[in-house]
Amino acid sequence: MAPARKRPAQPEPERSSKKRKLRGLQNSREEGYGRMKKKLLVDVDCGVDDAQAIMLALAAPGVELLGITCVHGNTTVENVCRNVLRVLQVCDKLEVPVFKGADRPILGNRLNAGHFHGKDGLGDAPDPNAPGLDRLQEEGAVSAMIRIVNENQGEVSLVATAPLTNLALAVRMDPSLPSKLKGLYIMGGNTESRGNTSVCGEFNFTADPEAAFIVLNDYQCPTYLACWEFTCRNKLSWDFCDAWLAQKSHKAQFMAKIFRYSIEASKTERFEKEVIAGPGLISCDSYAMAAAVDDSFVLESDQFPVSVELVGTHTRGMMIVDTMGLLNKTHKAFIIKKGDMEKFKKMMMAALK
Ligand code: BDR
Repeated sequence: MAPARKRPAQPEPERSSKKRKLRGLQNSREEGYGRMKKKLLVDVDCGVDDAQAIMLALAAPGVELLGITCVHGNTTVENVCRNVLRVLQVCDKLEVPVFKGADRPILGNRLNAGHFHGKDGLGDAPDPNAPGLDRLQEEGAVSAMIRIVNENQGEVSLVATAPLTNLALAVRMDPSLPSKLKGLYIMGGNTESRGNTSVCGEFNFTADPEAAFIVLNDYQCPTYLACWEFTCRNKLSWDFCDAWLAQKSHKAQFMAKIFRYSIEASKTERFEKEVIAGPGLISCDSYAMAAAVDDSFVLESDQFPVSVELVGTHTRGMMIVDTMGLLNKTHKAFIIKKGDMEKFKKMMMAALK
């Protein structure tokens, strides 16, 4: 077991837009990436890119996945649980505990992203050998999140690639939770009010704006955001995708099968309007995961207070970036601006080996 470590101090305030090149590299060495276990707890709404992110983490050297908590989002929470078990099965990692969480947002109607991920979240590809839901833990996701963080104080990087309902409920149950985290990594939100779900709303934040608001305001721990525009601008080429899926492994075969539906959807007019910066493979959730797995992935980030718009005909769920400091918040999130894409490609390749 990794030796107990004190929670690292909140990072020194940095000037916005400051390049973090050297620091990322240094941190990665200090933390001995590949030598010391990095403890991750992952909260997902397992669609295809969540599956890719989980597989990336499972393949990363020196990473220990303490558990996977499930929440509504891309599909129903029951489908999400089943999908996570399917991913763990193909990776031969069914020992990772899986917990069922919230089945709907705090307020409002449930959304889904069936148009992109398939109705079942994994491309509607039949899987007669899918593990049964009896493999789920009896403990609920929110209570498991609190327990696991308390048992590993200062060591857990929480990675959230879904609507933030479970995280919001957890901090309401245990307000001290964020102070016991090593860091929080979120795929969600937007920086230029580009929507992919509503005019100005990114899916994960729009699917539960109240939860996103609670998390961005109450989690006063080092917080890293891989926002929608960042993921679009860092898409991978379809040539990379072909080589990635052509690897001779069960994992690659599985991915090719579940990804077919989204690849088709990526070529539709709707998707072309959603995305920025041309065609290609956007594995949205994998960027937040890559940052959690290896700090040196993040080459450059902005540091600003952030929040979420809760009212507004077109802006509900939109992320607010407080560049002028008008919200009087002391806590600033790292908004990832530049990632080490060569490193990212290696992590993605390894995920399907
Ligand atoms: C996010 O929405 C979901 O459909 C994806 O899984 C990703 O987490 C992108 O906006």
